[in-house]
Parts: sequence; structure tokens; C-alpha cells
Amino acid sequence: TDRYCVFGNPVKHSKSPQIHAEFAHQTQQALEYTAEEAPVDGFAGAWRAFIDVGGRGANVTVPFKGDAFALCDILSHRARRAGAVNTLILGSNGRTYGDTTDGIGLVRDLAYHRVALADKRILVVGAGGAVRGILEPLLAEQPCEIVVVNRTAGKAEQLASDFTDLGPVTGGGFDTFDGTFDVVINGTSASLSGDLPPLPDTLFNTNAWAYDMMYGTEPTVFLQWAGPRGAKLLDGLGMLVEQAAESFFLWRNVRPETASVREMLRQSLN
Ligand code: ATR
Repeated sequence: TDRYCVFGNPVKHSKSPQIHAEFAHQTQQALEYTAEEAPVDGFAGAWRAFIDVGGRGANVTVPFKGDAFALCDILSHRARRAGAVNTLILGSNGRTYGDTTDGIGLVRDLAYHRVALADKRILVVGAGGAVRGILEPLLAEQPCEIVVVNRTAGKAEQLASDFTDLGPVTGGGFDTFDGTFDVVINGTSASLSGDLPPLPDTLFNTNAWAYDMMYGTEPTVFLQWAGPRGAKLLDGLGMLVEQAAESFFLWRNVRPETASVREMLRQSLN
């Protein structure tokens, strides 16, 4: 049986094995998908060891997306842009090919919920690795403008300047932007500590969407804040499923259906 896994540390709570088992069942693909905890300073060794026991590909999560990027023999253009790899593929020649499906996962999830992006004003909050991974696919949807804001203004400025060749994107601190937005995406890790980015009350256009790339049993503080201010709400569970579907497609060349898996995961959160 072809083996796949998700590498992380910690990785016990990963939902990827559940998601990929469902995809495999649905598409009748014979494969095994497990969660593997790699040592923080030994990612490359863990990948090679996995190949030796039949590994054909892997997902990569915190804290290894940079290590995965560094070990690949061949990188996709989008992985190079993102500076990160979340999907490893073992080539028939034994070489390791790296791609990232996080950004396309977000855009597919937005499409699933019929969130329009073309000609829209998008605010992206945060300027870390998670945000670097979504700018290229978001810009490909031809928004009117993307504004990146971050606690550390210089990081948002730098990030935006790395993508200006692909479309209209600017960056700065929380005090440097104005106007209202159609889509506001929280890509910070602030939700993890229950913090709220300092955003103005008058942020949302009519029919605007608030999207948190995090998810949990309860709505994140950002979504709890955005709801009463008129936004429609989405959390990152759909993005998780869609990035998994894209990785599955890269490995198996079959595209799984995601609606039932979304439903299953949502129920398992409660
Ligand atoms: P990731 O890979 O999840 O993007 P990261 O690269 O460490 O992780 O980035 C975390 C992001 O969350 C950054 O944009 C960070 O802001 P700074 O660049 O100013 O550190 C943001 N962040 C984390 N905690 C935050 C908080 N309490 N309030 C606002 N922003 C926060």
C-alpha cells in the first residue's frame, strides 16, 4: 500500500488522517495515511525514513514548512513564492518535489461559499508565513486591491512589496489604512491567545465577509467581533479540507468531493 502522512510536532491532534481516510474511501484509492511526529531538529531524516518504509508523499505542518521547503529537489512556483512547502511528493526518480496547497485551499473554500473576490477590496490581517502563502492565489482572483496590515508594520510592507509584481497589494501597520472592505481575512495567530487585532468598528462593507484562517469548537474572537459588525462569518475548517483535497489530487490525480468531509469534521468538533 502506498503510504502518506502528515509531519508535525506536535501532530496528535491533526485532522488530516481523518480527512484523507475519507478521501481515499470516497475515491476508492488504496492508501494509508498516518500522523508522524518528527523531531524538531530532524525533519529531513524523518522524511527519508518515511520513504524507506513506503512513503510516497506527505503533508507538512507546524513547525516544518520551512524545513520541507529547504529539502526539496524541485519546487513549484507557488511554493517558491510562499517560501513554504506543505505537500511533499516522491518522484519516480527518487527526487522530492515540493508544493504548497494552503493558498489554493483558501481560495477554493471562498469559492465554495460563493465569496466573490474579483474587483473586491480585501484586507489581510497578519504578515507571517500563513499570509505569505495566500497572497499569490488571492491576487490571481483579480481583486480591486489587497491591503495587508500587521502589528509589526515593516513585515507587512516587506511582504506586500514581495508580491506587487502580481497585482495591487500594499502593506503597513494598523494605523496606516482606511476605508471599508468586502472581505477581511484574519491570518494572524492572535486567535490562539484569544487576542483581537486592533481593527476599527467601521471595517465592513454591506454584504462583507470575515474569514478567520483558524478554527475551533467556538467561533474565534475575531469572528465574535466581526459578527455584530455586520459581516458574514467563515472559519478555517473549509480551508483545511480544501488544502487536503488539493494535496490528495497532487498525489493520486483524483479530485475528492469535499462537502461530506466538511460536514463530518464540523460534527467532530462538537
Ligand atoms: P504563521 O506561520 O502562523 O503566520 P508567524 O509567522 O509567527 O506564524 O506569524 C504570526 C502572525 O500573527 C504575525 O503577523 C504576528 O504579528 P507580528 O508580525 O507583529 O508578530 C501576528 N500576531 C501574533 N499574535 C498577535 C497578537 N496578539 N496581535 C496581533 N497580531 C499577532
